[in-house]
Amino acid sequence: MKILLLVSAFNGLTQRAWCALRQAGHDVTVELAPVYETPEELTAKVYASAPEIILCPFLKHKVPEDVWRKWPTIIIHPGPIGDRGPSSLDYAIMEGNRQWGVTALSAVDEMDAGPVWASRIFPMPSEPIAKATLYNSAVADAAMSCIEEVIEKAADPQFAPIPQEEMPQPVPHVGTRPLIRRAERVFDWENSAVEIVRRIRAADSSPGVRTSIDGQTVHVYDAAVGERRGRRVPPGTIVGRGDDAIAVATGDNLVWIGAVRRPTDCGGDGIKLPATMIFNDPSIPELPVPEGLRQTSYVREGDVGFLTIRTYNGAMSTAQCARIASSLKEALNQDTKALVVTGTPAFFSNGVHLNVIEAAEDPSAEAWDNIHAINELCSALVSCTDQLTISAFSANAGAGGVMFGLSADVVLARDGVVLNPYYDIGLYGSELHTFTLPRRVSPPTATKLLTEKLPVNTDQAATIGLVDAVGPREWNEFREWLSRMANAYVSPQRYDETMATKLQVMDNTRPASYYEAHELSEMAKDIFDNRSGFDASRADFVYKRPARQTPPQIAQHRWRLSGLS
Ligand code: COA
Repeated sequence: MKILLLVSAFNGLTQRAWCALRQAGHDVTVELAPVYETPEELTAKVYASAPEIILCPFLKHKVPEDVWRKWPTIIIHPGPIGDRGPSSLDYAIMEGNRQWGVTALSAVDEMDAGPVWASRIFPMPSEPIAKATLYNSAVADAAMSCIEEVIEKAADPQFAPIPQEEMPQPVPHVGTRPLIRRAERVFDWENSAVEIVRRIRAADSSPGVRTSIDGQTVHVYDAAVGERRGRRVPPGTIVGRGDDAIAVATGDNLVWIGAVRRPTDCGGDGIKLPATMIFNDPSIPELPVPEGLRQTSYVREGDVGFLTIRTYNGAMSTAQCARIASSLKEALNQDTKALVVTGTPAFFSNGVHLNVIEAAEDPSAEAWDNIHAINELCSALVSCTDQLTISAFSANAGAGGVMFGLSADVVLARDGVVLNPYYDIGLYGSELHTFTLPRRVSPPTATKLLTEKLPVNTDQAATIGLVDAVGPREWNEFREWLSRMANAYVSPQRYDETMATKLQVMDNTRPASYYEAHELSEMAKDIFDNRSGFDASRADFVYKRPARQTPPQIAQHRWRLSGLS
């Protein structure tokens, strides 16, 4: 089927849909709606593309009437049947709904009011979850399932979508809800920590909640409840710091904040940064960070160590890499046989921290330090001779974050994860990728991945050898599978054979520093001489400037050429 994905951005869900539809043999093209200044321009583009069906997995723009009248145009709405409006997930989290859903409905004049093609319901986590995490997990899974059903139904000439009024509403009390205004998100530091965290998570990663800390107006993100220690202090006071986060007193407890965005002097959006970069008073005492925000945690299960890395948005600054490196080295020094390095259900890694680089007084110097710091993590894994190293992509990863995962001997992934194994920001790239990527997928496929700059899903990744095995999507099942896999690798005979082969291969391989030296010589030109437009690409990314065109590699019908399906 000839499918057009009409979207506001080629975001994680759209990438996942794009991969799955191509894999199923469909002819898929993408159009970014924000590229077009008028509905007429967008309509002309859709006519030129002449699809059989239009899917909108992530569309904030209105579909022009000429388009939805001519083609079946299906909106994937992140809410159950009967729910309408642009702030569905925000309300669901803020109001503590026990279940939520996704509905595939025809585009019509009124937003989210069209007849229904498919819908799914899922339980909401008992703890409030960050909106972006909910979107990339339960919502994305339900959306993928709806998309599959829509494509089946679209092939059936007898099928007609069902008007919403004729369908039962599985989630009670839903209806048309307006955009949540800033004032409705506001909290008071006198409120309970649980309530404040719920409000922040309902707005995380965008737009955040505006508040005042230490006399500064900021938007806050990445929140967790913490235990108050010692005497009561006025709510709103910063009482501690740890990793990148600060602890702020509330009416009853503490709220830890991992990331903040300060408006610019002229009132525009500033850059979202680790909280301790904005609130950097060295006299703030160090406190233990609550588990949900801790950047690394290590557990040992017999012969296997598990190191979980957690960075907000998967971005790893110089300081974060240094903290992770110290935990990684400690984990590698244990007398375990294997070390598993993994991420959280929300993030694995997206490489160096572009926001921190952009905000630095000397961005080139910061980028250079950051590359060295992330390379140290990769080198520690690549050069480890005492243990078998296993990485597990627990969530999506991009650029240097993928390459970091490839530094391990064995690479595993959680089903549904999307990997972007290339650099697209004006950087040649480092993270030892010139060694690890061709080692895994062969030099021609490595070149193809790096130059085509396309996402791959876990099936495709397993087919080309980018990952060794794919485990269940459901989080607890994935953790159990990971543990079983790691334990199978350390079973006596398999372990001895695997380690013997590993050491033999290492003996015949150039040292990691050989590859790093080559990569850094290229990176120096990108970082200090701005050879490939890193400065402008980075600013566009950090300030979220809309794309000027749909990237040609996704706008064209190229799937047959890619050889990755
Ligand atoms: N540094 C800082 N922030 C990053 C980041 C990075 N390396 N990678 C992702 N983010 C942030 C985004 O700004 C966004 O922030 P917000 O939602 O808080 O505003 C959030 O993470 C989610 O990223 P987004 O781009 O919306 O997700 P996606 O699923 O659409 O795309 C990627 C995933 C990996 C393709 C995309 O994030 C990307 O290209 N990241 C940059 C990778 C890179 O070039 N790294 C540097 C070289 S190693």
